[in-house]
Amino acid sequence: MITRISNGVNPLDATRGRQKQLIVGNWKMNPRTVAEARKIVSSIKAAVGSLKKTDVVVCPPSVFLGDLVVNGSTRLAFGTQNVHFEKDGAFTGEISVAMIASLKAKYVILGHSERREMGETDDLIAKKVHAALEAGLSVILCVGEKERDPECAYLDIMKSQIEASLHGIPKNMLAKLIIAYEPVWAIGAKAKGVVLPEELLETIIFIRKILSGMYDQPSAHAMKILYGGSVDENNAGSFMKEGGAAGLLVGRASVEAKKFVGILKVAESL
Ligand code: PGA
Repeated sequence: MITRISNGVNPLDATRGRQKQLIVGNWKMNPRTVAEARKIVSSIKAAVGSLKKTDVVVCPPSVFLGDLVVNGSTRLAFGTQNVHFEKDGAFTGEISVAMIASLKAKYVILGHSERREMGETDDLIAKKVHAALEAGLSVILCVGEKERDPECAYLDIMKSQIEASLHGIPKNMLAKLIIAYEPVWAIGAKAKGVVLPEELLETIIFIRKILSGMYDQPSAHAMKILYGGSVDENNAGSFMKEGGAAGLLVGRASVEAKKFVGILKVAESL
């Protein structure tokens, strides 16, 4: 138990806003063809029309974005899984914020642990966060520890990760910033376990305390904090209800239309 982080804070006030739930699908490097991608989007599209309390974002591989946006719907927002911080120029293989914005993407996932694993530093992530927010995109900034040690040193690691990834981001740019808490040990097919809702609630309060120290309390409380890591239609409700997450960042289950739609239904029913 991480009791030291919840002192004096009403967990529900601190974590649960009155806003809609935000469910984001991170498709990673899936599926293999644009035809398959279209199929998934058309199933999601059929489900989003009736949602009133849930906002939905799909982040496919950027190469599919133009096609999917055209075949999407106004109720379904799109995003990318990465972006370069420079506006344009000699950066082979990269994509810019203006490019994705011109394809009507509204969100970008930054700082995902799989990109950090490929060598992205907090410093680089902070530059990307700045460029994306400046261009008017909403940023889903992923943070999370590689493992939880009994001495709670991971909390300090996470604190420095958040502070460094947001280095140079002024308070007036926070409106479109979303944090996704993604403990690395709970992500993907090699996940060692899932976070318990009470652990999630404590961690979200901890993240708000860090944000409050960096900015101020109203800004920290207004920030959407999502959870990601082995989310499926069975555990989704507990992360948002008892865990206090304002939504979810879904990996594997987001490329299986039935599972993803199941998660949307859970979010809508809360
Ligand atoms: P997962 O991935 O849902 O497959 O664990 C989550 C993520 O990496 O964002």
